[in-house]
Amino acid sequence: MSPDKAVRVEAHCSTANLGAGFDVFGLALAKYADRVQVRTTSTPIVRIRTVGPYSRGLPASPNKNSAGPPARALLDRSQLNKGVEITVEKNIPPGLGLGSSGATAAACAKAMNYLLSLYLSDDELVKIASLGEAASSGSAHTDNVSASLLGGFAIAYGDPLRTVSIRAPAKLSVVVVSPKIRLPKNKTSLARRLLPKRIEVREAVLNIGRASAIALGFARGNIELIGTGMEDAIAEPHREKLFPGYKMVRKAALAAHASGVAISGAGPSVVAFVDKTKQDPKKIARVMVKEFSKNKIESTFFVTSPAAGARIIRSN
Ligand code: HSE
Repeated sequence: MSPDKAVRVEAHCSTANLGAGFDVFGLALAKYADRVQVRTTSTPIVRIRTVGPYSRGLPASPNKNSAGPPARALLDRSQLNKGVEITVEKNIPPGLGLGSSGATAAACAKAMNYLLSLYLSDDELVKIASLGEAASSGSAHTDNVSASLLGGFAIAYGDPLRTVSIRAPAKLSVVVVSPKIRLPKNKTSLARRLLPKRIEVREAVLNIGRASAIALGFARGNIELIGTGMEDAIAEPHREKLFPGYKMVRKAALAAHASGVAISGAGPSVVAFVDKTKQDPKKIARVMVKEFSKNKIESTFFVTSPAAGARIIRSN
């Protein structure tokens, strides 16, 4: 392998959980994508540089940037005694619940798998990419990384971890509304600390049923069915207090004929799934923004669609 072999990979942002699929479901979204360039070096260390519109304040330390731990793990796996220089082009706004750190980790894992000719399976890559999530949020959840890596609607489940993904229906529009609320930088770990240690059988049954409806809804391309499952009995009830106005916004969006509404990942963004052949997603977005403003909370929105998985955009 020549010391200056390089590859550039793009990975999209994502929304995780989708209501009942806490820590299991993810959907890649087209709006933003990080680009990660990885170049091999003969010095066996990981170096990270950050560029792009959202690079300010992003840690470059390989222990803290979500590209670092997957890079280290894959270098160790290769046994080549090489190092890497990683350039993270941060185009996904962090802190909105759009899987920003997960996309970087996914792009890095995909780039390294190619560069070091490791031929790892999707399951292994998702697991390794999740080490990046642990570095940035303190928990190695796999939902965002699997969506960014595999694209479409992704399910990451079980122990040992298995992953599966399916293209999302083309008529699915995703409205993303982001309230401007002050949250600590470590908001994902804060939101995870609010999770209950134990849950009732009733809550588990509710989530299993709804999650099954979501999975079948994607398989059938039925957005109404997906929407019926977008209600969570496990995480959202404990996290709502972090997101004032969310409950009313959810109610208003459903009344305006969104198919389903959920907190995006660990928040604060809220996603509404809309069948764009039946409803105007922008109209629903405006209803949601208005509802936040009734609670004296400013918010912004965009409308996007599902995206494909991570892809190599250049190699040399
Ligand atoms: N499933 C994770 C959570 C996603 O809700 O904590 C965080 O990005």
